[in-house]
Amino acid sequence: MPEQLPPDLIEFDTSLPIWDRFFMVAPLVLVGTVEADGRVDLAPKHMVMPMGWQNFIGFVCTPRHRTYQNAQRDRVFTMSFPRPGQLVGTSLSATPRDDGDIKRGLGAVTTFPARQVSGYLVEGAVIALECKLHRMIDGFGENSLIVGQIVAAYGATDSVRDSERDDQEILASTPLLAYLQPGRWAQIGMTYSFPFAEGMKK
Ligand SMILES: Cc1cc2nc3c(=O)[nH]c(=O)nc-3n(C[C@H](O)[C@H](O)[C@H](O)COP(=O)(O)O)c2cc1C
Repeated sequence: MPEQLPPDLIEFDTSLPIWDRFFMVAPLVLVGTVEADGRVDLAPKHMVMPMGWQNFIGFVCTPRHRTYQNAQRDRVFTMSFPRPGQLVGTSLSATPRDDGDIKRGLGAVTTFPARQVSGYLVEGAVIALECKLHRMIDGFGENSLIVGQIVAAYGATDSVRDSERDDQEILASTPLLAYLQPGRWAQIGMTYSFPFAEGMKK
């Protein structure tokens, strides 16, 4: 018999996805790929994380998405981190394609060409990364992990860390966009220095 739960916990049914039952903080990025006919594709992704301390970054996708298909074919993708003021354009990048295979919502986001890979980055983003495909791992249910090696990276001058400016001052003046899955968002401008343990090593 399972042990008794502490009274302040409820158990989730793990035969169903649990992720809609609570909130979780995530980044929100626009992954950029190029369609087979050369058009720009952008798609919002919140299941994103650095893959270790070197310059690798991964996101979760599905083979059903054009992002997956384009990245698999071209072996490259870009990743742009939009600002809170770019939220609507970010969301519209998930507009379903119309009968002519056009994702109309993409018109709300302006892009510029990447320099090291064939692709496009989002104008006005806080961080913009160009990635060569490192690995695609299928098999997380219907999902896949797509990992890129970052071969070029750019940061907006008002947002990058700078020895002349306090970290909190940078975040207060250019707040970060966070996705609170499953369907809320936040602008993070009020932050605190992390209380690292003395002697902590990463
Ligand atoms: C806020 C938000 C977050 C999303 N996060 C993800 C994600 O992490 N992974 C994913 O596969 N799809 C995610 N999606 C869904 C895709 O962005 C959406 O299906 C998109 O239209 C796929 O476009 P594509 O077919 O051009 O790749 C998200 C959508 C929104 C609105």
